Amino acid sequence: MKFTVLNGSPKGAESVTMQYILYIKKKHPEHEYDIINIAQTIKKIESDENRFKDIIHRVQESDGVIWGFPLYVMLVCSQYKRFIELVFEKNAEAAFENKYTIVISTSIHFYDHTAQNYMQSICDDLKMKYVGNFPADSWDLLWPKRRARWLLFAEEFINHIENNFPTSRHYAPLNLRDFKYTPSEITDDSKKIDTLGKKILVVSDETDKNTNIGKMLKRFRDSFSDEIEIINLNDIDIKGGCISCLQCGYDHKCSYLGKDGFIDFWENMVMTKDILVFAGVIKDRYLSSRWKMVQDRAFYMTHTPTLIGKQMGYIVSGPLSQIPNLSEMFQGHIELQGSNLVDIITDEFGTSEEIDALLLDFARRLVTFSNTDYFKPLTFLGEGGRKIFRDDIYGRNRFVFMADHEYYEKHGFYNTFPQNDERAKKMNEKLIPLMKIDKVRTKINMKKEFLRPFLRVLEDPNK
Ligand SMILES: Cc1cc2nc3c(=O)[nH]c(=O)nc-3n(C[C@H](O)[C@H](O)[C@H](O)COP(=O)(O)O)c2cc1C
Repeated sequence: MKFTVLNGSPKGAESVTMQYILYIKKKHPEHEYDIINIAQTIKKIESDENRFKDIIHRVQESDGVIWGFPLYVMLVCSQYKRFIELVFEKNAEAAFENKYTIVISTSIHFYDHTAQNYMQSICDDLKMKYVGNFPADSWDLLWPKRRARWLLFAEEFINHIENNFPTSRHYAPLNLRDFKYTPSEITDDSKKIDTLGKKILVVSDETDKNTNIGKMLKRFRDSFSDEIEIINLNDIDIKGGCISCLQCGYDHKCSYLGKDGFIDFWENMVMTKDILVFAGVIKDRYLSSRWKMVQDRAFYMTHTPTLIGKQMGYIVSGPLSQIPNLSEMFQGHIELQGSNLVDIITDEFGTSEEIDALLLDFARRLVTFSNTDYFKPLTFLGEGGRKIFRDDIYGRNRFVFMADHEYYEKHGFYNTFPQNDERAKKMNEKLIPLMKIDKVRTKINMKKEFLRPFLRVLEDPNK
């Protein structure tokens, strides 16, 4: 059998993920493995039509396709995303249709589920026969039991192809709304929102003012009584995606420094604002690969937040409600930054008047929350993500991300380890021996005990 392996690592052959493929090759040398370095050579694939056609031809000729990629900021890297966009833009979907496929990712399990969800939906959009995914930890291959389950998974894939076993679909095709947003002018200046001196920036990748998103951005800007800044990502000099050189691990310095305008844009235009609104059009099941490139390049600060204490939100054109995976990434990312997600406004529902009203109220809430310093509590998305980072930087990845470790120490990130919680320790020391006594157990009303500290807040007139 012949497998086409689409390598989504910008490192090319030096990829950790590809070692998993080589392991299968070692165990099953009877098959042919055609590894194509997609992410590493995306510029050539994009500019050279023959190169793109050659890849599509190799996919067409294969018995099965293996998507293999490293996690990059909750998804695939921008270079791989661009390849997926090209498949749709160049109408090359037919080569993938009915091909058996599996997806392997390597990562530290930080939002690997969102990346895997994305890839599964892309496989469904391409009408592939999706056998399953294998969300490996980067180091799984080094452990005998974990290695064994990867081999079993890959063998099941081979089994599927050999026996023509059925596969299930999980994602219905996206249903696009045919709607032209026609905003009205705000004629009464007193209705406009005072920025209260807050620094507000909208970052978008929209180039056309006549699209829904272009008009939504104009209407949003007009909702304020003062000027706000709007930046187009296509005007920023970004030479390319993150290449995973990991220089930033030592000192948070990107190897692109001085070679393009990204760091200047991020540090002087984005990080300095009180209020940030990101905007874009949905492209396949995410925003554009240009947006993804920005997210990846911002990784030069690796696992430390750069957008702390901001009020943030999104303006999106496209079927967002049909892609909850994407909303989850928006929310998770903002929570991890230590910022507040105010809302996501789309052109999916309602009339133009209703969208006008939503945009105006979005402007009001952004300024009000910034003024009152309102932050929603974190959900699992932020809490869980922070804990994964904390544990990994404290532990096995400290030598790679030394700058993060210093930052975490300085900013008390390690104080959140439960073994450092002095109050909980004392409480457990005192209460656990008591709770082991049957008589105490029967006497104590745990529900009431839980409420006791709340009474101190509710009955104190000064709280
Ligand atoms: C820019 C960048 C972003 C990353 N984002 C994530 C992430 O969101 N979640 C995660 O678990 N690991 C993340 N990682 C870690 C890689 O996914 C992991 O090291 C992977 O095994 C590398 O595979 P490769 O050698 O095949 O490129 C990121 C690494 C880089 C360089």
